[in-house]
Amino acid sequence: MERWSGKVAVVTGASSGIGEAIVKKLVGHGMKVVGCARNEEKLKKFASEINGKGKGEMHPFKCDVKSEENILKMFQFVKEKFGSIHVLVNNAGLAHFAASLLAGKTELWKDMLDVNVLALSICTREAIQLMKASNVDNGHIFNISSVAGHVISSMAPFYSCTKFAVKALTEGLRQELRAVESHIRVTSISPGAVLTDFGFRAVPGLREKNVDLGSIMEMLKSDDIADTVVFALQAPPHVDVNEIIVRPTEGDVGKKLAPLLQKKA
Ligand SMILES: NC(=O)c1ccc[n+]([C@@H]2O[C@H](COP(=O)([O-])OP(=O)(O)OC[C@H]3O[C@@H](n4cnc5c(N)ncnc54)[C@H](OP(=O)(O)O)[C@@H]3O)[C@@H](O)[C@H]2O)c1
Repeated sequence: MERWSGKVAVVTGASSGIGEAIVKKLVGHGMKVVGCARNEEKLKKFASEINGKGKGEMHPFKCDVKSEENILKMFQFVKEKFGSIHVLVNNAGLAHFAASLLAGKTELWKDMLDVNVLALSICTREAIQLMKASNVDNGHIFNISSVAGHVISSMAPFYSCTKFAVKALTEGLRQELRAVESHIRVTSISPGAVLTDFGFRAVPGLREKNVDLGSIMEMLKSDDIADTVVFALQAPPHVDVNEIIVRPTEGDVGKKLAPLLQKKA
């Protein structure tokens, strides 16, 4: 990882779960990381906890990725402060389990499309443009997808649809980059169940039902996904790791969660 020390990364969704773990890991490897999310207070607190311990540093940036204007401002900040970017981790994402195809609210479908698909595409375009403008030909784009982007989730089919789109966008990006003889690498990481706030945000009222997600099975930890990012990053420049699926050894949380939700309802 030495070659990444001092280099610049942007991680979206850095205020919680997987994004937070990725920021911590990259800062630990000496990178300058712009971590964005809407919850600025959490970002600042997190930055104050991890900064000043080594060469790496985190720069919190308040950004609602549903706003293109916000995203453009963030990349302007990166350009002005660092002049370049080497790594982008498109991690911000969400599901609404209530948004079924039979009766889901359009605004919930839009929310998932805006964050999981459009924001990821806008951030990628801006990162690649900045890499090009600053002659960075060895950059790396990560998309945090999901197992639901490979196997349709009956609990969240629209969310699945957005993550299937991420699969197409990842491979499409790789093909476009190779067509212009760029050496920027592209990696999609698809986690199974990770113990974060994700499930509680996806199912409103779950916290109130006192469902202890951690006790259902041994889920993945955010750090496991951060380690996967490092695995792909540290591969030699001629190795482009494109697709990684990481599941809990115990299997699929959906099957274990469904009866529990009904019992508690
Ligand atoms: N946890 C799992 O089981 C699991 C499994 C497979 C894939 N994933 C994927 O992993 C990624 C991270 O999820 P997580 O588990 O870490 O969930 P999480 O703990 O809920 O974190 C989600 C992050 O996304 C940010 N975010 C959401 N909407 C945003 C917006 N409009 N603008 C900016 N930031 C926004 C949140 O920050 P703010 O609320 O502060 O804005 C938060 O930092 C997602 O793409 C998710 O689809 C998760």
